[in-house]
Amino acid sequence: EKGGYDHFMLKEIYEQPRAIKDTYRGRLLADQGLIRMAGIDLNMEKFLNANRIIIVACGTSWHAGLVAEYIFEDLARIPVEVEYASEFRYRNPVITDKDVLIAISQSGETADTLAAIKLAKEKGAFVFGVCNVVGSSIARESDAGAYTHAGPEIGVASTKAFTTQITVLTLMALKLAKAKGVFSESRYHEYLCELETIPGKVEKSLESNTLIEIIADVYKDSTNCLYLGRGYNFPVALEGALKLKEISYIHAEGYPAAEMKHGPIALIDEHMPVFVIATKKGHYEKVVSNIQEIKSRKGKIIAIVTEGDEQVKDLADHVIEVPETLESLTPLLTTIPLQLISYHIAVMRGCNVDQPRNLAKSVTVE
Ligand code: F6R
Repeated sequence: EKGGYDHFMLKEIYEQPRAIKDTYRGRLLADQGLIRMAGIDLNMEKFLNANRIIIVACGTSWHAGLVAEYIFEDLARIPVEVEYASEFRYRNPVITDKDVLIAISQSGETADTLAAIKLAKEKGAFVFGVCNVVGSSIARESDAGAYTHAGPEIGVASTKAFTTQITVLTLMALKLAKAKGVFSESRYHEYLCELETIPGKVEKSLESNTLIEIIADVYKDSTNCLYLGRGYNFPVALEGALKLKEISYIHAEGYPAAEMKHGPIALIDEHMPVFVIATKKGHYEKVVSNIQEIKSRKGKIIAIVTEGDEQVKDLADHVIEVPETLESLTPLLTTIPLQLISYHIAVMRGCNVDQPRNLAKSVTVE
């Protein structure tokens, strides 16, 4: 049932090219210049007239929500707020019938997320669910929605659910950008075509697995790790740190790269591995100068870079390449090596990768 893999998590990491394809199958029609999503088409006015979109989720799904904030604001020019469902539901939030609430949940059963959408519905907001499990409670409670179609995710640490959530949310943002008229025909077409290349580029990113195993062996005994990224890749840094924490039990923190100098930089010495996402697009030069700051404090740098990068290679202790793509699609690629590094470190430490201690796949109590 693990399809020849040692763990469900590894199987699910490797399933991502197919899972992403399944997510956009029948929706992304690049040759016709079309994205078809019934849940959006039928409710287009709600989205176009919304004052803002509020995204609620927990854990990894919350990280997908953060990526979506960048995508929706950047591409569709719709204001977005991203909330932890547990905080949102208890802080007497201001919600009106001009709000659209998007709930993101792999299981569709997370208690806090479910409670958040019930609250939003009571206040008259339109609720859109992005779930993986068909017929789940959140899917049923939502006014409309889009499934991720990632297939069952068995490993407790979420992997393919994350990248397919980002895929669905990207399709939504593109559709809204087009409908709002903020996207030219040619830019829209460029995005659709580029999205179609993503499964192949994820496949390519998975080819670093052997190199990543070697890097994992170097850092497996660390007690702390930092993860840094900017822009679209700031949430990816958070997700990388969460993956390491939950399955290898190493303390890790994700930070926006520029925030490093406001505190975490004090932690950096020769024992601190720092994973930096430094892809060519999106504040590249600024990330390079962050890397220089880490280097001058003797931190160990593991950089995720764009294929063919030369500048970071000279500074970093290790570089892991991912193919080039549009900036807003880079999280779909940069996430892959971070999932693999966590996996290998956890295996080397003898941890129960698929069922980490204290965690449950579906958190149905608050
Ligand atoms: C992380 C993880 C959790 C879930 C969170 C939300 O790997 O599995 O953080 O992402 O419990 O779960 P869903 O998406 O089912 O609402």
